Amino acid sequence: MRIFFCNDSRDLMDKLIINGGRPLDGAIRISGAKNAVLPILAGTLLAEGPVTVSNVPHLNDVTTTVSLLGRMGVDLVVDEKLNIEVDPQTIKEFCAPYELVKTMRASILVLGPLLARYGRAEVSLPGGCAIGSRPVDLHIKGLQAMGAEIDVQNGYILAKAKRLRGAKLVMDTVTVTGTENLLMAATLAEGETIIENAAREPEVVDLADFLNKMGAQISGAGTPTITVKGVDSLKGVRYRVLPDRIETGTYLVAAAITGGRIKVKDTDPKLLDSVIVKLRDAGAKITLGDDWIELDMQGRRPQAVTVKTAPYPAFPTDMQAQFTALNVVAEGTGSVTENVFENRFMHVQEMQRMGADVRVEGKTALTRGVKNLNGAQVMATDLRASASLIIAGLVANGETVVDRIYHIDRGYEAIEEKLSQLGGKIRRIAV
Ligand code: EPZ
Repeated sequence: MRIFFCNDSRDLMDKLIINGGRPLDGAIRISGAKNAVLPILAGTLLAEGPVTVSNVPHLNDVTTTVSLLGRMGVDLVVDEKLNIEVDPQTIKEFCAPYELVKTMRASILVLGPLLARYGRAEVSLPGGCAIGSRPVDLHIKGLQAMGAEIDVQNGYILAKAKRLRGAKLVMDTVTVTGTENLLMAATLAEGETIIENAAREPEVVDLADFLNKMGAQISGAGTPTITVKGVDSLKGVRYRVLPDRIETGTYLVAAAITGGRIKVKDTDPKLLDSVIVKLRDAGAKITLGDDWIELDMQGRRPQAVTVKTAPYPAFPTDMQAQFTALNVVAEGTGSVTENVFENRFMHVQEMQRMGADVRVEGKTALTRGVKNLNGAQVMATDLRASASLIIAGLVANGETVVDRIYHIDRGYEAIEEKLSQLGGKIRRIAV
């Protein structure tokens, strides 16, 4: 049976109502990684034949990417298990328009593949976002070093190249999507490309594994130096996306903060070592299997921890807000330092409204743990901030209403179903 991906009908003004005070208990399955499936779907544009991607999470960002590829004329079908088959050979356009890119910055990831495979691309600049200015200068600089002619006009990146040439690229800053764009561009470039100071995130490694399965010649993914020998073409393949380490960590923190005991399945503990260390520092008893993690807080209150975010394998910025939520109800004083983005503490003022004793000094959120938070009306501002407010609501007394939850639907598949499965009292209301 072939069905087409439908846009989630959930209204932008939906809210989540959470009644706190219950320890989470039970088991859930972790979905495929958002930050791996987005570059991999963009990478399908490089193939000479159909590509099937499996373990795709049902997220708004995936729907947006499917819409973006569909607009280019690429044929996409989705089966009942959410496997997406992409046939890039039907492509007609090479443009990523502003109205799509403004809703999802990761649309920039079509730039490298379009340039490498078709020699042209017109991609809207993503613009800033709530957590920071999020420039893409390093994406552009790297492609220019590989011979692309790039103009930025009226908010669009206009790029063309007869055939990209391999180059030695030294990234000024570790950038995940910057590394991914240049990695994809290099697969079909003439000669060898070396990317120094490359991002080492597991999602970069998953993309490299996918590209190598298509016939690329990439070595060093997961280390600071990636080497790519350009090839003439890449073939269509079937590929299963790796589990989402941030979704995994989010549910583990939710269990820890509520004093609960949960098992997360279909995940990979090796992807989140730094998060597991901090959860153990907070007092959680953690057991690891090959593809599962069990966390047992045994009804206890967590101990406050010190966290400093940095590129992988250090503590992930995408888990910062969730650990801020843990610290505000933990025993003792804690600190969370955000070193990657310049404005990723917007959840703090929302938590203050719930009674948290937390203040931001420079790049650090300093907390003095309180025994109880009180439910309140709070507003989500970005994806991971939304998750942290839901987690805070799970432990707060009374009812918490989280507004603007379209943020959460971008990155967490069926969050209220999974939390309800764990005994959380959470429901969505359409306004
Ligand atoms: C990726 O964003 C993730 N998104 C983000 O996840 C994640 O927070 C981030 O990496 C860091 O881990 C996807 O993978 C789709 P960066 P990305 O480029 O690639 C600076 C989530 O919640 N920079 O690694 O856009 C930039 O300003 C999202 O799932 C430049 O200066 O982030 C930032 O300070 C949020 N110039 C730093 O690098 C550039 O050209 C890291 O940003 C590019 C980046």
